Amino acid sequence: MGDRSHQMDDGAPARSIGGDAARAACREFTFRRASLDDVPAVATLERIAFTDPWSAPEFEQLALAARSIFLVAADPAGGHLAGYVIVVAVMDEAEVLNLAVSPGCRGLGVGGMLLDAALSEAAAAGATSVFLEVRESNAAARALYLSRGFSEISRRSRYYRKPVEDALVLRGAVQR
Ligand SMILES: CC(C)(COP(=O)(O)OP(=O)(O)OC[C@H]1O[C@@H](n2cnc3c(N)ncnc32)[C@H](O)[C@@H]1OP(=O)(O)O)[C@@H](O)C(=O)NCCC(=O)NCCS
Repeated sequence: MGDRSHQMDDGAPARSIGGDAARAACREFTFRRASLDDVPAVATLERIAFTDPWSAPEFEQLALAARSIFLVAADPAGGHLAGYVIVVAVMDEAEVLNLAVSPGCRGLGVGGMLLDAALSEAAAAGATSVFLEVRESNAAARALYLSRGFSEISRRSRYYRKPVEDALVLRGAVQR
């Protein structure tokens, strides 16, 4: 996924600042299309989630791109972002470009729901196959993709930096 790497944690749900109440609130987020107004919060989460983060202008381009399916899980009252996903669909193929969940909201199904929602939109746009790259050591992401039926089709040697590591290329199928 992208030419960057995730923060090297064990992928386990992180302890949230507000404890159980804050984690319960993670389940109340709603899913919607990202707008330019979401980009600052998305870029902030990106810097938390990845060691080689994308910049705000890169997210702005993707928020405006016709073929990108850029969704956020956000507090309907505004102000809090639980996660985001970006999928690009062209003809019958889609690619998952980016996916991250706020550390305090991990392990609650937010990442899976974001991915499901974006892949469902990709399928509606005509995609039947979905591709992505994932860092070999990213156990949480690999478990998520495995749970959605993705399987490894190839490996890109030394694809990631900070630190250098191979990427696994995964393929999944989607249906309308
Ligand atoms: C990867 C990431 C998006 C997962 O988000 P999440 O909201 O914690 O994932 P979910 O709670 O929706 O879990 C989805 C599935 O993955 C599995 N999973 C999630 N975290 C896991 C972990 N640490 N270990 C094992 N399995 C895990 C769950 O069991 C679940 O399976 P199920 O749907 O069959 O029950 C999140 O850990 C994250 O943002 N990581 C940092 C950024 C990143 O690595 N992005 C992906 C780049 S390829």
